[in-house]
Amino acid sequence: MNILILRNEAEIGQVLGDLFCALAREKKNAVLGLATGSTPLPSYRRMISRYKAGDVSFKDVITFNLDEYCGLPADHKNSYRTFMRQELFEQIDILHKNTHFLDGNTNDERAESERFRRLIENAGGIDLQLLGIGRNGHIGFNEPSDAFTQEAYRTALTESTIAANSVYFDDCPMPRYAMTMGVGSILRAKRIVLVATGEAKAEAVKAMLEGEVTPGCPASALQNHPNTTVYLDPAAAALLSV
Ligand code: F6R
Repeated sequence: MNILILRNEAEIGQVLGDLFCALAREKKNAVLGLATGSTPLPSYRRMISRYKAGDVSFKDVITFNLDEYCGLPADHKNSYRTFMRQELFEQIDILHKNTHFLDGNTNDERAESERFRRLIENAGGIDLQLLGIGRNGHIGFNEPSDAFTQEAYRTALTESTIAANSVYFDDCPMPRYAMTMGVGSILRAKRIVLVATGEAKAEAVKAMLEGEVTPGCPASALQNHPNTTVYLDPAAAALLSV
């Protein structure tokens, strides 16, 4: 894994936003794997500003999001579909039909997982996957467990994740379950960029980069990926020994 420590989250957002724009310009039907949460926002803002400046078009880009809550209507203000619409898709020229999400309300988890796997495969695989990391080392919503997960599945969220994300749920309880891409499906991306900023992520970053590869820290699986770069700010890198 490559590790880059940049000055702050704004600088990381600029570098990564530019990376996504470069891919959209270079490759017709580029396939982007996207994340939600606070970490990707500076990257999305950079993509929007490059689009508004006329530098790039996302008309041919295809996206897949990592995860979606179970039990929320798709248009709920806290669904990840809504998040992506507000924070990125409505502000660029991406086509709605090219944006893909797991259905958090499926009655058939296996069929939904298979549908998503095939869609990604038919698109040619994910060219560039953006990841954040949970304070407990999760990627997507793959929480620490006894075995690495493979394809998309329905998962129970841990107390750590519920504590971190419930701040966004001001008028309804936060869902306890989510559909997420599995670690195996995330690792099939051709290239991965993971971003961690702030001291709350420092322990997870240390475990991911310097700990053993273990499902107890799902992000540690990235040590086995051939093309992953981790972007950190100084606070998230503070506990690294090198
Ligand atoms: C969200 C996702 C999660 C977040 C992680 C960090 O789609 O995949 O793994 O990346 O929980 O969240 P923030 O960025 O809010 O700290």
